[in-house]
Amino acid sequence: MLPTELVDLMNKLGVFPCVLGTTDKEGNMHMTFITWVYPKSEKILRFALSSGSKSAKNIQETKRACFMFFSPGRALTCYGDAQMIIERIEEVKFPVSVFEMHIDKVEDNLFPGATITGIIPFAHTGDLEKMAELDSIVLKVMRSA
Ligand SMILES: Cc1cc2nc3c(=O)[nH]c(=O)nc-3n(C[C@H](O)[C@H](O)[C@H](O)COP(=O)(O)O)c2cc1C
Repeated sequence: MLPTELVDLMNKLGVFPCVLGTTDKEGNMHMTFITWVYPKSEKILRFALSSGSKSAKNIQETKRACFMFFSPGRALTCYGDAQMIIERIEEVKFPVSVFEMHIDKVEDNLFPGATITGIIPFAHTGDLEKMAELDSIVLKVMRSA
């Protein structure tokens, strides 16, 4: 289960930077960076991916995914079964699909003498208004599905 404080932080921030890991059916690993992630509960994560992305294809093939989350005082990996729950978000101009992962394992990556001091720093560039609007559409769909 994800710690409640992390779930609360993710919900407070809306978009949350994290690393997603998947494999294809031959076992080839793939990692990518995403921010459209919404913790529906301590056990269920929803996330949105460009439909044509390698990550989206891998999840369709293997139904598994893992995440790495960084936040103050935490470095967590979580693993689970994942599936597509919305093939395409109609309101978004390019194809974006929504996935849901049921977490079956959470690992704490910290060790004595070191910690994590923040979340992964990131910022939108370009048209900030458009990006904020896109984020808000995707979050709304993930929350209401
Ligand atoms: C700040 C930032 C946020 C991103 N958020 C997402 C996201 O939430 N979903 C997504 O599919 N790609 C997101 N991307 C793009 C992915 O990192 C990646 O380049 C792209 O989706 C291709 O995915 P793939 O590696 O699975 O093919 C983001 C990139 C940046 C720089």
